[in-house]
Amino acid sequence: MTKIAVLGASGQIAKLAEDLFLKDKDNELVLFLRHPNKLDQNKIDKNREKVVVGDASKLDKLLPAIKDVDIVYANLAGGNIEDQAKTVVKAMDEAGVKRLIWISSLGVYDEVPGKFGEWNKNTLGSYLTTYRAAADQITASDLDYTVIRPAWLTNKNEVDYEITRGAHTPFKGTEVSRLSVASYINDLVEDPSKDVRENVGLNKPNTDGDKPAWY
Ligand SMILES: NC(=O)c1ccc[n+]([C@@H]2O[C@H](COP(=O)([O-])OP(=O)(O)OC[C@H]3O[C@@H](n4cnc5c(N)ncnc54)[C@H](OP(=O)(O)O)[C@@H]3O)[C@@H](O)[C@H]2O)c1
Repeated sequence: MTKIAVLGASGQIAKLAEDLFLKDKDNELVLFLRHPNKLDQNKIDKNREKVVVGDASKLDKLLPAIKDVDIVYANLAGGNIEDQAKTVVKAMDEAGVKRLIWISSLGVYDEVPGKFGEWNKNTLGSYLTTYRAAADQITASDLDYTVIRPAWLTNKNEVDYEITRGAHTPFKGTEVSRLSVASYINDLVEDPSKDVRENVGLNKPNTDGDKPAWY
């Protein structure tokens, strides 16, 4: 049995990942989120899913929620994401949980080359600084983390991605589907030894360009 805590459990990638996790009957989920009304209550399998309402920047809520899980998957967002990262690391340290999957963003290491890199930096602005500060909290920890930097996200119903490993390896492509990211996360849950202490970029192959195709 693998117990996975999903932080930000109503997030768009998180919901897709939860569906994949539940396909394995041995998985159990802790759905940690601020707004439980954003979950489809009829879909929740009470035997295998536990909903915990809380804010990921608050240790008193987060620590008890993750204390007996095997893996924490953080699908968080927001201007205070660095505080959330600090709290996640502290809670995991105190709970003795080692394996963390952390969603970040392309561009936080200024690793996106060329015209697209310039466009990405100008478009995302301070979001990148904030997300970099959060990622630094994760990579400075002694946790078994995987930091995932997706390209611009789409809702295409496809699993089609390639990986660039290493924070400073030039990023490829412009887009990737949320389902692809969820599928990669599910692979990490199925084999928690995969990509430990790695920092990966995810993109759809052959989507290089000066901007994502829809801009
Ligand atoms: N859009 C893109 O092209 C792109 C590209 C690369 C990376 N990303 C990043 O990838 C991440 C995942 O993407 P996504 O589409 O799944 O994002 P999403 O749907 O916005 O999910 C993020 C979740 O974080 C939750 N959250 C925010 N602050 C929280 C807190 N303090 N405590 C608990 N939960 C909190 C939000 O829930 P509530 O607000 O309901 O509480 C939301 O459900 C995001 O950080 C996004 O910025 C996006």
